[in-house]
Amino acid sequence: MIDIENERTQLRSRMVGGLRAEHAGEGMELVGWVHRRRNLGGLVFVDLRDRSGLLQVSFGPDWTDAASMEIAGEIGHEDVIRVVGTVEVRPEGASNKDIETGKIEIKATSVEILSDAETPVIPVYRAPEDELPAEELRLQHRVLDLRRRELQQTLILRHKLILATRNYMDEHGFIEVETPILTKATPEGARDYVVPSRVHKGEFYALPQSPQIYKQILMVAGFDRYFQMARCFRDEDLRADRQPEFTQIDVEASFVEPEDILALMEGLMARLSEVAEIDASLPFPRLTWAEAMDRFGSDRPDLRFGLEIEDWTEATASLDFGIVRSAVTAGGRVRGLRLSGGARLSRRQIEAIENEAKATGAPGLLWAKCTEEGASGPIGKFLQPEHVVSMGLQAGDLALVSAGADQVTSPALAAARMAAIAALELKPEKEHAWLWVTEFPVFDEEDGVLSASHHPFVMPHMDDVDLLETDPAAVRGTAYDLVYNGTELGSGSIRIHQPELQRRILRALGLGDGEIDEKFGFLLGALAAGAPPHGGIALGMDRIVQRFTGSGSLRDVIAFPKTTAARALFEGAPTAIDDAQLEALGITVTRRNEEG
Ligand code: AMO
Repeated sequence: MIDIENERTQLRSRMVGGLRAEHAGEGMELVGWVHRRRNLGGLVFVDLRDRSGLLQVSFGPDWTDAASMEIAGEIGHEDVIRVVGTVEVRPEGASNKDIETGKIEIKATSVEILSDAETPVIPVYRAPEDELPAEELRLQHRVLDLRRRELQQTLILRHKLILATRNYMDEHGFIEVETPILTKATPEGARDYVVPSRVHKGEFYALPQSPQIYKQILMVAGFDRYFQMARCFRDEDLRADRQPEFTQIDVEASFVEPEDILALMEGLMARLSEVAEIDASLPFPRLTWAEAMDRFGSDRPDLRFGLEIEDWTEATASLDFGIVRSAVTAGGRVRGLRLSGGARLSRRQIEAIENEAKATGAPGLLWAKCTEEGASGPIGKFLQPEHVVSMGLQAGDLALVSAGADQVTSPALAAARMAAIAALELKPEKEHAWLWVTEFPVFDEEDGVLSASHHPFVMPHMDDVDLLETDPAAVRGTAYDLVYNGTELGSGSIRIHQPELQRRILRALGLGDGEIDEKFGFLLGALAAGAPPHGGIALGMDRIVQRFTGSGSLRDVIAFPKTTAARALFEGAPTAIDDAQLEALGITVTRRNEEG
């Protein structure tokens, strides 16, 4: 609640939400929106709304002047009004437990309409049982949707989290520096949004996918500790946890090791959790990337649930089953999940789990249902009693089995794990599960092609540098991710500060020296100017707010979000631009969007 003196303006005494019975008898001038109006036997009741809450205003011929009585009778939903009146305690039995001001009302002596509202296309007032209008409609009429209390509360919390972040970083000696929005392509793995230059026709700025290179340059320049609430832009396939433009808490520090950044961020998360009133017991548990993949099949496991992947390669060594034997002969492992009580799932439910596994690219998922009589199912019918025992299976269990290379079975089992948890409606063992995943590999390898697993500036593990040219896929990096309830909230690393090593990594990624100089010359040049060892992290602010508020999508924590088709429905962007503008930019459009 804001200080009452800050609520007062020339037009109002204060906001409505903080009024209580102790204010009874005080005269008030109040303004706001008409949330709801009811006429009851010659009396008119209005729920007056502002950002702070709701307050009932009553109009009656005995205390309201005649002209105002007439106006009150015509007031419509969402009109903006100003009332003058007195706070009174409501009569016995007339209080409303659902609103904080429910014990009182304002008896209005007069009312004035400051602004007439058209009938709202989507209602702002909803009875508890009313469903929200469809999201597309709400995004089209965002001005009305943003009047919703949930959205206002979320954006207020967002503001408080940003403020707490700035204070925390400042207390720890970090300086906020703004980096350019019109810039040069930065490699974070997505496509760039580009902006044409009018002055230099045929040339384009790129919007930053992150301030990565700039923050490293600030370290070389000696700023020592930088942070920024940084807006980032990425043209990528959107999902519920991705927006084309989003905000990072971007952090970089000099003369640090991973431990320094992890401890600093744990402190920040503890501070933010306090603001959002959620639990963050320190220190957060840690798993290396290899452990996380082995035990959970995922680099961002949801540790609210204990269910772990088991290695059944040994236990099934004598199993005579073609798919399994050939997978093992080819160097793979037999791994799976043992779901206690899972035998009660129907064939359809198991198929649905299998489909989730297949969606990750795995050929399928084998399963076995265990009862007192023995095992059944595609792999179950081949299991001998000794296999059942050595796999640790008991009557009532469902075993989900995947055989093959870990690169295939890990994502399949991770997907099956979450699908099985949902199908069995397993209760989380805790409400808030924090986790650091460390030592990510420097490269991802697919069909012999290397890509940066985070970005190309991650310092390799010193013990693995010699493998860069011979076995790059085995090179461990200093990168770490922060995971909360199965969502990646942030990602960072120690950076390469030697230009020669940076060049070796870029070469390993398949870039020629010419391309390296053209794209990264400014970074390599800066590193050659005497670079301190440095590292950092970036946390997704939108994701933090989403997870802390339990919101369904990032669209619920951003005031003016884009749809999954990257459209802004309220303001209507993107749009075509007129020919004169194109001409001035020196641009010819050869293909236009047909769907408009
Ligand atoms: P990364 O690309 O992993 O790292 O991004 C860091 C964090 O930003 C958030 N994030 C997003 N949030 C919403 N919509 C998106 N499209 C989106 N993409 C990313 C996530 C993610 O964990 N420069 C490096 C960080 C570093 O190394 O310091 C970077 O940007 O929460």
